[in-house]
Amino acid sequence: MQHPGPALTCGATRTILVRMKPPAIAIDGPAASGKSTVARRVAEELGYTFINTGAMYRAIAWHLARRGVAATDREKICAQLGHMPLQFGKEGTVSTVLCEGKRLSAELTEPEVNESVSSVAAIPEVRAFLLQKQREYNEREAVVMEGRDIGTVVFPDTPFKYFVTASEEVRAARRAAQGLTDSISERDKNDRERACSPLTQAADARVIDTSDMTIEQVVTEIVTDIRNKMPTKS
Ligand code: CDP
Repeated sequence: MQHPGPALTCGATRTILVRMKPPAIAIDGPAASGKSTVARRVAEELGYTFINTGAMYRAIAWHLARRGVAATDREKICAQLGHMPLQFGKEGTVSTVLCEGKRLSAELTEPEVNESVSSVAAIPEVRAFLLQKQREYNEREAVVMEGRDIGTVVFPDTPFKYFVTASEEVRAARRAAQGLTDSISERDKNDRERACSPLTQAADARVIDTSDMTIEQVVTEIVTDIRNKMPTKS
């Protein structure tokens, strides 16, 4: 969706189009908190593009594992960063990651990716590389972006920040129900303790504990809040 911004009328004859930055909705939270499903639904409701930044980190972790590069080998990883055959794009209104033209999907949740992704994501150069690509998505269109540092680092100025969480038990049960092998508490610990862009709630984020909520209740709470905050068109 393009956002040309409102038309300002100056005097009787001239109309100036003010180009406003399209809105960015930031949805952060720990592993298996339900934020992907919620973010995708919020994007559908608003007609915005849904961007899954976890998939971007996962794609890099997957590619490195395939090449036999250790997730802790910062030097080798930095040397490969600009030369990986990965493309971050979108199909319709959903972000995609392609490797040599093929869309990555099940590969991104393989056990070895679950194990290595938080180490890869702790490398500052990896984060800087992806930060630029994440911001590019919002240059021309409105986005709902989910991750760990969207409200704190990627779009610190957006007024639309949500921190979606749930109790550890509920999150573990949700991940198990997906049939995935994933030690989420270890990944969360790594994500919270890393020096660069750790998982933390932005001071101005609205925190939503989804432990006892349905997906639709969470989506309604977020969409209602966004609509209330949107400047009204005159
Ligand atoms: O889906 P789930 O909550 O398990 O994780 P994800 O969103 O796919 O993210 C996988 C991993 O990528 C996280 O555990 C973080 O280590 C990293 N990540 C990050 O550091 N920053 C982001 N904005 C998104 C993901």
